[in-house]
Amino acid sequence: MRLKDKVVFLTGAANGMGESHARRVIAEGGYLLMTDIDADGGAALAEELGERALFTRQDISDEAQWQQAVALASERFGRIDVLVNNAGILTKGSIQSETADSLRKVLDVNVVGTWLGIRTVSPVMARGGGGSIINISSQVAYRGWNDYSVYSCSKWAIRGLTQSMAVELAPQNIRVNTILPGAVDETGLFSGRVDEELKERVRQSIPLKRFVGREQVSSLMVYLASDESSATTGTDNLIDGGVSI
Ligand SMILES: NC(=O)c1ccc[n+]([C@@H]2O[C@H](COP(=O)([O-])OP(=O)(O)OC[C@H]3O[C@@H](n4cnc5c(N)ncnc54)[C@H](O)[C@@H]3O)[C@@H](O)[C@H]2O)c1
Repeated sequence: MRLKDKVVFLTGAANGMGESHARRVIAEGGYLLMTDIDADGGAALAEELGERALFTRQDISDEAQWQQAVALASERFGRIDVLVNNAGILTKGSIQSETADSLRKVLDVNVVGTWLGIRTVSPVMARGGGGSIINISSQVAYRGWNDYSVYSCSKWAIRGLTQSMAVELAPQNIRVNTILPGAVDETGLFSGRVDEELKERVRQSIPLKRFVGREQVSSLMVYLASDESSATTGTDNLIDGGVSI
């Protein structure tokens, strides 16, 4: 019950880590406004989670859809205590094989979407006395990586945004932190097109020799969302099995 009666707004909630976060918020006693562009998956999960969870379809790159979803959360739950900016998309390839259109698309979802979330939710949070914003970045935003010119631009931007927002929103008692996951099992990264040989090579490159579990990222999310971390803001929280050492 570490999130007892906290109202959590979670994006990208239908699949991968978002699904795990959604289950955990309910298990920890919170209320949940969950959004995703995957309307069928989101609605099915919300139904399974029961009356403390509410799903609405939302494309995070669209400002009007942020306003609608935040209005729904305020109407249903009266306030928002936690925002988890989890939804994101990934592309991989050398700078020559990538395109400017691909860069614009990824920035639009990963960066503009996160920026709009903070912009739309923080006034509601401030009216409720403060809160916690958690932005999902990546281990590719900790050091340089091959073939991630597009994705890493977006995830480094999230780190910078987090630090600026931590300063700007601190007077309103709003904390802003980043989670930088490594390779997480049971997520979009590995579903559908799993190449077992590649997966094994990735696993061998991790000092702890195991993938990060979705539930482990959810545990970090709960810590940052809860009052246990009330002195923590502007931090980068790596969870990568030691890859970034
Ligand atoms: N999987 C990993 O190993 C890994 C590692 C580091 C960081 N991340 C980051 O963690 C977050 C979650 O990743 P995941 O692997 O669980 O992803 P996933 O692909 O399994 O799920 C992402 C969810 O976001 C939704 N989504 C995509 N575009 C959207 C949009 N425009 N508006 C609203 N929802 C949208 C998808 O429908 C999906 O349900 C992402 O930000 C990702 O970049 C993932």
